[in-house]
Amino acid sequence: MTTQRELKQVMFEAGELAAGILLKHFGRIRVVDKKSDVDVVTEADRKSERAVMKRIRQAFPDHAILAEESGGTREPVAGYCWIIDPLDGTTNFAHGIPVFSVSIGLLLDGEPVQALVVDPTRGEWFYAKRGGGAFLNKRRIRVSGAKKLLDSLLLTGFPHDHRKNDRHFMDILEACLGKARGVLRLGSAALDLSYVASGRAEAFWEEHLSPWDVAAGLLLVQEAGGQCSPLDGSKATVFDREVVASNGLIHSELRQVLRKAWQEW
Ligand code: IPD
Ligand code: CA
Ligand code: CA
Repeated sequence: MTTQRELKQVMFEAGELAAGILLKHFGRIRVVDKKSDVDVVTEADRKSERAVMKRIRQAFPDHAILAEESGGTREPVAGYCWIIDPLDGTTNFAHGIPVFSVSIGLLLDGEPVQALVVDPTRGEWFYAKRGGGAFLNKRRIRVSGAKKLLDSLLLTGFPHDHRKNDRHFMDILEACLGKARGVLRLGSAALDLSYVASGRAEAFWEEHLSPWDVAAGLLLVQEAGGQCSPLDGSKATVFDREVVASNGLIHSELRQVLRKAWQEW
């Protein structure tokens, strides 16, 4: 039987391989391919993904894998399933901005059980285990204690297809800007969620997400004492297209602001 310790070991080994590849290529990317008008992919995304998948397959040949560049089943499956974003923040990476991450989430029967987000440039490793807490470089982390939106720093992201609906994203952004201390767009959803988990920001919201963007981050926030849901407040799953993740204390206030802007749209 596979133990949690073995799973964690392989997760960290895969994270280390991916982080090494990203650092090696960072600042040296010459070819940037387009998946759509503005969604880009580089050699580093592909190499990182191959390395992570190879390590997982060597260790656990019977586990399912869903990875951004290679695909896989985008719905819950029985048994273990690894969900990989080999480079979250490709746009930043391609432009030489050192804000990107590797995200590896592990699900058992559709429920997240372990999570790892690595920020290679800062050497920050965010890890969570279901029922076992969330950690940054082995130090326990917790969400922030801010109680009001006015005292909160919010994070968000714009999906690659945002240009189909720019006004919608602007209306929501405007509504939040008017109510919070500030709103940032970092460019890596996995890091956004890690920053909510570690109390650096109070909340994150985004629409049109994919499972690999959030498979690790949702568990990090929950294990750090925070709350994650879709806009309607129901239980979050990694297969939801939208996410609101917060320290819990501002969750309903933020959801109300988002819902109002959404409904007016
Ligand atoms: C993107 C980043 C970005 C978010 C986009 C994602 P990628 O992932 O997480 O912050 O706003 O929705 O697609 O394409 O760099 O892996
Ligand atoms: Ca991503
Ligand atoms: Ca990616």
